[in-house]
Amino acid sequence: MEKNNSGQKLYEKAKNIIPGGNMLLSKRPEMFLPNQWPAYFSRAKGIRVWDLDNTELTDMSIMGIGTNTLGYGNDEVDQAVMETIRKGNMSTLNCPEEVILAEKLIEINPWADMVRYARSGGEANAIAIRIARAASGKDNIAICGYHGWHDWYLSANHNGGDDLNAHLIPGLSPNGVPKNLKNSVFPFHYNNYDELLDIVEKNNIGIIKMEVMRNFGPQDNFLQRVRDLATQKNIVLIFDECSSGFRETNGGIFKKFNITPDMAMFGKTMGNGYAITAVVGKRSVMEAAQSTFISSTFWTERIGPSAAIASLKIMEREKSWKAITSIGKKMQKGWKDLAKSHGLDITVSGIPAMTTYNFNSENSLIYKTYITQEMLKKGFLASTNFYACTAHKEEHLSLYFEALDEIYDSIAKCENGILKSGDLLDGPICHSGFKRLN
Ligand SMILES: Cc1ncc(COP(=O)(O)O)c(C=O)c1O
Repeated sequence: MEKNNSGQKLYEKAKNIIPGGNMLLSKRPEMFLPNQWPAYFSRAKGIRVWDLDNTELTDMSIMGIGTNTLGYGNDEVDQAVMETIRKGNMSTLNCPEEVILAEKLIEINPWADMVRYARSGGEANAIAIRIARAASGKDNIAICGYHGWHDWYLSANHNGGDDLNAHLIPGLSPNGVPKNLKNSVFPFHYNNYDELLDIVEKNNIGIIKMEVMRNFGPQDNFLQRVRDLATQKNIVLIFDECSSGFRETNGGIFKKFNITPDMAMFGKTMGNGYAITAVVGKRSVMEAAQSTFISSTFWTERIGPSAAIASLKIMEREKSWKAITSIGKKMQKGWKDLAKSHGLDITVSGIPAMTTYNFNSENSLIYKTYITQEMLKKGFLASTNFYACTAHKEEHLSLYFEALDEIYDSIAKCENGILKSGDLLDGPICHSGFKRLN
């Protein structure tokens, strides 16, 4: 099929008038396949995405970076949104959906009493930090994970020298973040309780914020010990569930470990692609929101909460977290089996519904790029990670693995010196992504 590469042409234009080319690092074409990634979509439905040349692609990759666990353009969610548009999205008065949604979120989180909303995960995190700082009367925070782009978070990269690059997210410069925020945010490694304890004892910590689980699970009662430490020292414990929420339980992944935080943030999949994020928390902490100023015009629009109410209803009815965990497990097993059959060494990590793998090879980034390049030729959006949705079925996995088999064969030939890895790619190697602490 003749391709016009319309997406890359538009991206070239974009880079000249939008710094970085777009608004989200993880969706930059360079993260997948420099100069060849379709870059833009014209339409998306279920797990299908149509690019600007109207080529139909099957999304076996990041599904809008984890926003759409019910598939793109879910009919029921879209209907609720269209009804909201019909009735009016904005007015001088507030929308009742924000109260209905708050009640629902408190029902899902019986340990919590109050809710605030935002429209992005970074915002929800910044709100939680402001409230928790106001409630604790302390500035300093211990963190573990990724919590958005805001000053408070990035300031962690002011603390030390190069060592923090490896400790947080390599290559992220805190340029533009005031240096006097230095030594207010202290990263700790997942499962390293002693490191956290040391940070808490030396730095007058008022808040611990963490992702409950990302690439691997808690060991040695880690989460309970963190909870006990926070309780003992009167520290506000915040779980950032922006990504993990609604993927393993009907709510936070922390439910699996019988531990409750003082605050939690939900985002991403809560509105199945529509912008809505929430901060839920105990009254004793959340009421501190009234002692500071947290307020924004578009946090009052109606589409976000309408989409969330509809999405939560469907998730609960379909137990979507079970379906996506099951398909994610099959994906993980498929990767392992295929690698084994080709004698390739891979490491699979992440919760099943949001999973990733890498080749244990010095050529891992070349192989990753090669997979994206070849799978694209076969009609798939694919990389080495997978965000599952309820529209992903076993038949899609079968087609995906059938396509991947031939690609792994070439990779195995490279590993065995039969092919040269330098000959695999039609263009440059992809950029590497976030490295996380957890
Ligand atoms: C755990 C976590 N917190 C916060 C964020 C930031 O959310 P957003 O990109 O919507 O600002 C992310 C995004 O990936 C995340 O995974």
